[in-house]
Amino acid sequence: PEIVPWTRPMPVPPVLKPLVSTPKQEIYQLSIERTTAEILPGLRSPVLGFGGQFVGPTIRAKTGRKTLIMVQNKMDEAANVHLHGGHVPAEHDGHPKDLVDPGRTRLYLYPNSQQGTTLWYHDHSHGTEAQHVYLGLHGAYVIDDDSERGLNLPSGAYDVPIMLRDIQFDDSGNIVVFDDPSKRTVVLANGVPQPYFEVAARKYRFRLINTANQRVFKLRLTGDRFTRIGSDGGLFANSMEAEELTLSSAERADVVIDFSKYPVGSHVVLTDEVGGEILRFDVVRRASDPSRVPAVLRLLPALPLSTVDREVDLAFVFKPNERPDGVINGKVFDMDRVDFTVKRGATETWLIKSSDPTGVKHNFHLHLVQFRVLERNGGPPLPSDAGLKDTIPITAGETVKVQATFTGYTGRYVYHCHFLEHSWIGMMAQLEIVP
Ligand code: C2O
Ligand code: CU
Repeated sequence: PEIVPWTRPMPVPPVLKPLVSTPKQEIYQLSIERTTAEILPGLRSPVLGFGGQFVGPTIRAKTGRKTLIMVQNKMDEAANVHLHGGHVPAEHDGHPKDLVDPGRTRLYLYPNSQQGTTLWYHDHSHGTEAQHVYLGLHGAYVIDDDSERGLNLPSGAYDVPIMLRDIQFDDSGNIVVFDDPSKRTVVLANGVPQPYFEVAARKYRFRLINTANQRVFKLRLTGDRFTRIGSDGGLFANSMEAEELTLSSAERADVVIDFSKYPVGSHVVLTDEVGGEILRFDVVRRASDPSRVPAVLRLLPALPLSTVDREVDLAFVFKPNERPDGVINGKVFDMDRVDFTVKRGATETWLIKSSDPTGVKHNFHLHLVQFRVLERNGGPPLPSDAGLKDTIPITAGETVKVQATFTGYTGRYVYHCHFLEHSWIGMMAQLEIVP
């Protein structure tokens, strides 16, 4: 089936409705199920969906109010839920070995003790995470907080999460899982290829989330620029203008686009260096706009003194006639092995590198905490390293120095390459936080 660009609207994933809502907590129910979705026009493809939806519903949380989610696995295989970028107790982190068996329900508790930001939730079941996420087990999770609300950024209908990913199909329109260079690749915005999105001539806040397994997007706007206001862990200190946004798998870019300068009837296209035109904004009406983008957004916390240095090396190990292993510091993931023991509350500096002989890219992700990028290759960080981060791309031969403070919880958390085809073959390791 042929895709005719700009013929279908970009869906805004519905916000999940709580069963119970009090100032202290909200309780939700969320299924994991097999379903179908019309991705290519006129064809229903088998997919997996949180809440039976491709893409999953958006969960809206608030700093200081707990989110409890009763997750029911209606599939015939184990799965689980990880809140990517979330500061959550180890038993609720969706550790790769901590699964929801078929037919079972389990409760995930998210304290939302961190500042407002854009997170996302996805499957993290060991050995099947790459397939599950690829087939659709991902959704947006947005935390709001009062001081952010006080800034008067675009909100409500003008604050829209956009999940970008690629997906491959064979000639009869079946989804190919995954990464077959001979197959047709399509980029989806909230689950639809080349959709249009109708906007009023005013400012919008778009929370761009790269939910692809492995794709790195290099995004531009035709004739316009992005105003970047935040990244993985929340707002920047100051907004920044950018011609181009690089977004690796799992990274987020919080941006504002101001359509007020466009006459009704104009179009602004979001393009990707490789994927071409992926989303068209159609300016369809005039509107008043009380929102603003203040020059000062939110000061970043001061960097405490670091007392521990570590090195993390992401690489492949190639073997003749066999699938390569993914390794961290030379070792394939073993969930019974603790690679680093970290003292709760400690501030550590990690030198992330890739000694991979192939020159391939990797994508480092650390659970539980947001970190700050101090240096890249001994020099200043890239624009895409700015702010509070939980995921950063790294090319073979590069070194990236990051600093994190391991506050809050004890227990076991993973860190891994967030190219899910790499973590799937072992490029993952485990730390234990001890009192
Ligand atoms: Cu997005 Cu370990 O996860
Ligand atoms: Cu990798």
